[in-house]
Amino acid sequence: MKKAAFALCSVLLALSGIAGTLTMATEATFPPYEFLCGQEIVGIDVEICRAVARKLGKAFRAENMDFDSVIPAVISGKADIAASGITITEDRRKNVDFSIPYVTTGIVVIYRKADPYKNADQLKGKKIGVQSGTTSDAYVLETLKQEPERFKSTPEACAAMLAGRCEFVIADIDPAKNCVQGETSLALSGFLSSESYAVAVAKGRQDLLAAVNDTIAAVKADGRLAKWIADYTAESGRLKEKGSASAASVQSPSWLATAWQSLRDDFYLCFLKPAGDGTPRGMYLVRGLGVTLHVALAAILLGLFIGFIVAVVRASHDKYGYFPFLSTVSKIYLTIIRGTPMVVQLLITYYIILRTVDSKVLIAILAFGINSGAYQAEILRAGILSIDPGQMEAGRALGLSYWRTMLKIILPQAVRNVLPALGNEFIVLMKDTSIVGYIALIDLAKGGDIIRSQTYSVYLPYLTVAAIYLVLVMTFTWLLGKLERHLRNTGADPVRNDS
Ligand code: ARG
Repeated sequence: MKKAAFALCSVLLALSGIAGTLTMATEATFPPYEFLCGQEIVGIDVEICRAVARKLGKAFRAENMDFDSVIPAVISGKADIAASGITITEDRRKNVDFSIPYVTTGIVVIYRKADPYKNADQLKGKKIGVQSGTTSDAYVLETLKQEPERFKSTPEACAAMLAGRCEFVIADIDPAKNCVQGETSLALSGFLSSESYAVAVAKGRQDLLAAVNDTIAAVKADGRLAKWIADYTAESGRLKEKGSASAASVQSPSWLATAWQSLRDDFYLCFLKPAGDGTPRGMYLVRGLGVTLHVALAAILLGLFIGFIVAVVRASHDKYGYFPFLSTVSKIYLTIIRGTPMVVQLLITYYIILRTVDSKVLIAILAFGINSGAYQAEILRAGILSIDPGQMEAGRALGLSYWRTMLKIILPQAVRNVLPALGNEFIVLMKDTSIVGYIALIDLAKGGDIIRSQTYSVYLPYLTVAAIYLVLVMTFTWLLGKLERHLRNTGADPVRNDS
């Protein structure tokens, strides 16, 4: 008994994340503070938090998410500390406790040299790109009194500016420097404001806050912080350097040769150039594809399972008045799932229902499987209702039980009748999984997005991702067609059975 209680406590402790691991929430497109080096999150903030974990004798884990989720993550307990180049502001202080500051910095304007920035008046009424939820966002909203163009990251805002989608970008100086590095058409203004970065913890976690403060004081004093700043600034600069496949373009004056060369350069940059951990950038797509397939296939199976049960319960209730309670529960399930957007369901599962579950793949499978189950249930129910009631009567007359008749006679025919509609649902599900980036899971779509944010190249990453999805869907459609023909040629066809 004692043993069981102990085991239960350890499981609960492990689940609640307070046992052995210090979890850091961050948004890793912010060099040199946090950025992706291959699959790994590295940077000054990561080093600070790792030092805190070491001081507490805990293991360490960094979680990548959207910047506007970083502070909510510590408030909800999803993470222990947030370190993401977070500026201390009065508004944020109402919700979290801040450590002592570790850097003094500020925000700047990134502008095109062709349209030089002179003063803040010039920004009025212009399209200004910012990272959503940052102090730059607040600057445009509160000081310039206008709506900014919000992007998920500063590199994304810069790419939009290079593509002519906004006129200026406002961002913190260090990531801004990284953005303009190598972009000869862009330049930086002086500071618009002065800010200090600190680490955030949930209110009331005094011990943790004290450990963070001691660590920051120590790394400042012994020179580690200065070394990290120098090292990661150099490292992120190296990552940003554009690779060139060859110098042939210099000698090729024709536009076709130039276009071909730039395509090759782009291909090298997006897919072959090492992403920092030594593996080629294209690995983001390969690994992402694995995640997409894993989530989609498992969710389809889970959805089928749920769909079958709900469909049988509802059809049995509608036709014969069986299972009144289960039928009501199913109706509530269908109403809620079909009445709310998938993204919202995914976020609720991640932040609320499965808050303590670490595996994002598992969270995605459950969210998508439960969602798809509702749609599959309705498709299957239509299939069951399409079968002549005489079939059930015949089965029962032959002495089969209700469930056996359902399983052996009705369902196979029902599935065959609705296979095209089911296939459609599978395809929609497979493509819908591309929103898992919302919970910072790196699937195929997010993989392309990461390559785009690191290379500033939009065409190749997105077109390649689209092509891969297309091939997936076409393969899937082909397999379903085969299955359909197979079912038509086997016992699941009532017409052939009759003959
Ligand atoms: N310092 C700014 C703020 O706190 C921007 C921080 C963005 N950080 C990031 N990792 N993307 O609002």
